[in-house]
Amino acid sequence: DTCKFARADEALQLSTTPSSLPCREGEHEEIKEVLRDAIARGKSGGCIYISGVPGTGKTASVHAVIKDMKAESDKGSLEPFIYIEINGQRLPKPNVLYSVLLQGLTGKKTDPVQAAISLDSYFGSRSGLRRPVCVLLVDELDYLITRKQTVLYNLFEWPTRKHARLIVLGVANTMDLPERMLPRVCSRLGLRRITFAPYNHQQLQEIISSRLADLEAFDAKAVELCSRKVAAVSGDVRKALQLCRYACELARQDKSDFVSLKHIEMAVKQLFSNPYVAAVQGSSLLEKIVICSAVQLMKETGDTNLSVEHIHDRTVEIHRQLNFEDPPSSQLSAACARLQETRVFTPQGDWWRQTDKVAVNIQGDDVCFALRQDSMLASIASALVGF
Ligand SMILES: Nc1ncnc2c1ncn2[C@@H]1O[C@H](COP(=O)(O)OP(=O)(O)OP(=O)(O)O)[C@@H](O)[C@H]1O
Ligand SMILES: [Mg+2]
Repeated sequence: DTCKFARADEALQLSTTPSSLPCREGEHEEIKEVLRDAIARGKSGGCIYISGVPGTGKTASVHAVIKDMKAESDKGSLEPFIYIEINGQRLPKPNVLYSVLLQGLTGKKTDPVQAAISLDSYFGSRSGLRRPVCVLLVDELDYLITRKQTVLYNLFEWPTRKHARLIVLGVANTMDLPERMLPRVCSRLGLRRITFAPYNHQQLQEIISSRLADLEAFDAKAVELCSRKVAAVSGDVRKALQLCRYACELARQDKSDFVSLKHIEMAVKQLFSNPYVAAVQGSSLLEKIVICSAVQLMKETGDTNLSVEHIHDRTVEIHRQLNFEDPPSSQLSAACARLQETRVFTPQGDWWRQTDKVAVNIQGDDVCFALRQDSMLASIASALVGF
C-alpha cells in the first residue's frame, strides 16, 4: 500500500539520520576515545584527521560522537567542553573561518584579518588554562586549500600550543591532504588519522535494513541487490539510499505490494546505466549550476574542453538569471574541484593547482534527465538537450 512506501521513503531520506550508525561502531569509539583523552588531559589539545570518500558516514559519525559526549558532560562524567562546527564548503572565502571561529569562542564579530590576530593571541596565552576545551569540527576541509595554505596551517598549528585547549577535527575526502599541504606541521603534529573505508555490500545491506526496520516494504533480495550494485561502484551510502527510494517509487507506480528485485533492476538501469546522472543528482546546488554552465558552453562552442574561467563567468550569469547573489570565486573553484572528483569534469593537470582547463564528460540529455524534478533548474536543464 501507498502508506507503507511513503514511510519507507521517509526512513530512507538522508535527513533521517539514525541515532547510532550501524557499521561505524569502531570509528565511533576511536573518535570518542581520542576526544575524551584530549578533553581530560586539558592543556594543549590535538588534531584528528578523518578522511574517506563521499557518503561513508564521516560527518554523521562525528555528530553522533559529539552528541554522546555532550550527554556525558551534562551528566558530569566528562568535563564540559565547547563545540564549534565550521563547514569549509559554506564559507564565502577560506579566511572567513577565523571570523566564524572567533565569534563562536568569544561572541565578537570582526573581519578575518583582525580575527586571525585575536585568535593567535587567544590560543597562545596562558589564560587558556581557565577556559573549557574547545572541540572544533572543520568539515569539508578540502575547500580551505589556498595557495599559501595559511588557514590550514593555523588550524593545525594552534592545537600544538601549550595552553591552546583546542582540538581540531578535520574531515575531508582527500587521503593525503596533510602530507601534501602541511609538510611543515605534519612532522610535529602527532596527527591522529582515521580513515573511513567505503562500505562493502554486507554493510550497506545492514544499514538499509536497519533503516527500514519492520516496515516490510522491501523484499530482502531487493535490498541485497541494491547493496551489491552500489558496493561495486562506490560504497556511497547516499547512492544506495537514493536507489532504494527510486525503487520504492517504481513499486508504488506498479501497484506492487513490496519493492522486488525487478524494481531495483529498473532503478539501477535508469540511475546507474549512466553514473553521471547519479553524480549530478548528488551535487550541491552550486555544482549543479556549474554543470549547467559547462554544458551550455559546450553546446555553444562545440568543444568539450573548456576553460575554467569561462565556466566561472557563465555560472555567475546563471546565478544572476535566477536572482541569486554572485557566488564567491573560492566556492566556484571548490565546486569545480568537487566535480572533478565525481568525474563529471576531467582535469587537464593537477586539480589542486587550479588548472585552467577541464574536459566535460556529461551530455545535455543526462543533465536534463537528472534535474527534471528540480524546481529551480529544470527549465535551464531542459534547454540543454540535443547536444
Ligand atoms: N552507517 C550508517 N548508518 C545509517 N546511515 C548512514 C550511515 N553512514 C552514513 N549514513 C547516512 O548517509 C548520509 C551520508 O553520510 P555522511 O554525511 O556522514 O557522509 P560523509 O562521509 O560525511 O560524506 P561527504 O564526504 O560527502 O561529506 C547521511 O544522511 C547519513 O545519515
Ligand atoms: Mg560530510
